[in-house]
Amino acid sequence: MDYLEIKGGNPLKGEVRISGSKNAVLPILAATLLTDERCVIRGIPDLSDVKHMAKILQTLGAEVELESGTITVQAKSINPFGDYDIIRKMRGSVCIMGPLLGRLHEAKVSMPGGCVIGARPINLHLWGFKSLGAQIDLKEGYVIAKAPQLEGCSIFMGGRNGSTVLGTANVMMAAVLAKGQTVIEYAACEPEVKDLADFLIKMGADIKGAGSPTIRIRGVEKLHGAEHTVIPDRIEAATYAIAAAATDGEVTLLNSEPNHIQAILHQLRQANVSCTVSGKEVTIKRKGELRPVSIATQPYPGFPTDAQAQLMALMTQARGISIITERIFESRFMHVPELGRLGAHIELEGVSAIVEGGFELQGAHVMSSDLRASAALVIAGMVAKSTTIISRIYHLDRGYEKMDVKLRKLGADIGRWSSEPSNPNYRPVPPSLAQFVE
Ligand code: EPU
Repeated sequence: MDYLEIKGGNPLKGEVRISGSKNAVLPILAATLLTDERCVIRGIPDLSDVKHMAKILQTLGAEVELESGTITVQAKSINPFGDYDIIRKMRGSVCIMGPLLGRLHEAKVSMPGGCVIGARPINLHLWGFKSLGAQIDLKEGYVIAKAPQLEGCSIFMGGRNGSTVLGTANVMMAAVLAKGQTVIEYAACEPEVKDLADFLIKMGADIKGAGSPTIRIRGVEKLHGAEHTVIPDRIEAATYAIAAAATDGEVTLLNSEPNHIQAILHQLRQANVSCTVSGKEVTIKRKGELRPVSIATQPYPGFPTDAQAQLMALMTQARGISIITERIFESRFMHVPELGRLGAHIELEGVSAIVEGGFELQGAHVMSSDLRASAALVIAGMVAKSTTIISRIYHLDRGYEKMDVKLRKLGADIGRWSSEPSNPNYRPVPPSLAQFVE
């Protein structure tokens, strides 16, 4: 298992190219199941989650080829039964249900569990399928959905915490082959939903309004193969922007989509960071001392939950109090005790974290708990004095393409080591980290 060793103190400087979006590519790959023709998806980030999705498609019978940033999928003949263990391992895999139900009128997938960031129910996905006429059964840990004929209808998809991103994607993918018109109200407006709709439209789907709270889908008989390039990853862009500000550096994000990160740029500007946009490039540079900002996470276009942990790491460096409220996932504060190990002053009050910033962070051994918490620890490690070691970085590899390589190019003193002697990067696990390495 790999771990990161970071010697803090280097300001990040230079340019970083933003990769394709993880959260766009996962449902887009699932959508390739909707046709027996060949689909070519470009701008694929090199991530373990993407490889996992490719494996899921293969276990369903699709032919998948992954070569330097391009995936070709041909799902000529597929079956509706997902492998229990492979699907269970990644929550994002739930989005194969909609395409399987749409094309094969049947889907059987393992019920995704909660994860460290919250309970993560799928009641809204199932509500959508039921509304389209599917019968849903839960049996031995599987969700079984069947529908001889899906019928278009009007579906309200708002839940306790607002809209659902993968729920909207799932229902949209089931509805493209349903009979008649489906209207999804309270649809998620995230750019990843819009990108999926753009791909489905290229496949021959009739979809209007994606990216807004009302999506209208007129079912078609059949979809065909298509080619598509995924949008840049707005959360990766946000992470490098925040890291640049935290280390007091100057970084230009290349291949970014500035419109997708307006909420981040707004908060950075409030925090006294200049963000200069020029086409697809954004240059981030602190203007002086950081100022504290308070945010609450919200569905798009609000401040994304996926950048909450990273902003918290930044706020440990802004003198004063900032309040960070998490409104999407109930327990997305696993990074708080780990930031505390580095010397951050953060107290939890219900769904809010109260950060008293301006204290110097000190390197320590910390542990990743989930993808974005890991990114926050990397940022904190780069501003901390002395050495920080972060274990369990497989979380990071799920969603950030070669983060250590990109950061090294920007000047960070960051190394990736392995605790496996067979690995060329082998280094014995530091004794105080041994407790964290499984
Ligand atoms: N919810 C329900 N019922 C449902 C579905 C969701 O109550 O049936 C609730 C959730 O519990 C949560 C809220 O609705 O409180 C929003 O969850 P959503 O369904 O939008 O999350 P998701 O679609 O499962 C995607 C991303 C997450 C990102 C969220 C929110 C992917 C693969 N995952 O998850 O990404 O945090 O949207 O934007 O697209 C990450 O990349 O680190 C990550 C966790």
